[in-house]
Amino acid sequence: MNTLLLAIKKIHTACLESLALSTTLESLEQVRVTFLGRKGKVSELMPSLSALSLEEKREAGPLINDLKKNLEFLCEQKKQTLVKERLSAQEELLKDFDVTAYTPGRMQGSLHPYTHVTHILTTLFSSLGFAIVDGPEVETDFYNFEALNIPKDHPARDMQDTFWLKIPGLLLRTQTSNVQIHEMQKNTPPLALISIGRVYRNEATDASHDYMFQQCEGMFIDKHVSLSHLIGTIKFFLQKLFDNKTIELRIRPGYFPFVEPGIEIDASCPFCTQGCSTCKYNRWIEMGGAGLIHPHVLKAGGIDPETYRGFAFGFGLTRLVMLKYGISDIRLLHSCSMEFLKQF
Ligand code: FA5
Repeated sequence: MNTLLLAIKKIHTACLESLALSTTLESLEQVRVTFLGRKGKVSELMPSLSALSLEEKREAGPLINDLKKNLEFLCEQKKQTLVKERLSAQEELLKDFDVTAYTPGRMQGSLHPYTHVTHILTTLFSSLGFAIVDGPEVETDFYNFEALNIPKDHPARDMQDTFWLKIPGLLLRTQTSNVQIHEMQKNTPPLALISIGRVYRNEATDASHDYMFQQCEGMFIDKHVSLSHLIGTIKFFLQKLFDNKTIELRIRPGYFPFVEPGIEIDASCPFCTQGCSTCKYNRWIEMGGAGLIHPHVLKAGGIDPETYRGFAFGFGLTRLVMLKYGISDIRLLHSCSMEFLKQF
């Protein structure tokens, strides 16, 4: 019995000390659990009752009960104090908060011109049955060059100055054409897709060139694909993009190792017939490269060039965006200037 009385006293003292030390509601909860929890110190006293006589039990039972009630009261009292302290600390913080103070008006958000044109193109191409796919911007030498018929030491590598990463064999893709190989490997023809995304080139920047810009890649592979399918598709999407204006295409021979024949496509200026500042008084605007996919590339993608043919094109999306909205400097597109962005 004496041992039990001693334990009750000890628990009471220990709890008082812990309460004095707890300064937050969280630490107070810890104290409550330690002493009053289901496996707490007060509950641990219960088994020792069984060793006592009936007489002693009658005396010890209420003592343990009193201890429990007393500790519960002390915890609650401490809780009230801490809640009050927390509230007054918050009030102190808000003391200088002036609800009538001036705040700048909220600005209306808008979509970036890239987003507008991407939306127009993906809707258009989806309506033609093209899938919209994505590709990696950090790429291997294989997908960006080798599989596109540009082996190591090929002079065509110099056409696109590359940002190489420190990890050997990895680079920032210089063209969205890397997507062609990924998709050929994943699918079987017929295959029609477009892919829009960022590309990177280690180039000097001016009003019409940036080291990061966006391209729109298109690819169609089937048994009887010809240049006329390619030209028809491009004419269709350019006319739709420029609000059904009549757009002529000028086809020039172009060299890209991954297509044969390769062509460069210029479009007649959507804004004039005689020359204007948009087309630099040239009447024609360079849009991008295209051609029939080289048999080596089909092979690298796991497609039999004896059975299938395909076309591919790669347009500067950035140029399309600039044309569509009459933006004269490419650098504005990545400038985050609110004055510029507010217009769209
Ligand atoms: C290519 O990138 C090829 N992958 C295109 C292609 C795809 C050809 C499929 C054949 C088949 P090129 O390097 O010419 O080609 O770039 C295509 C377009 O990207 C250019 O016509 C131009 O509109 C745009 N472009 C190129 N360099 C820049 C730059 N530094 N800043 C902004 N736009 C650029």
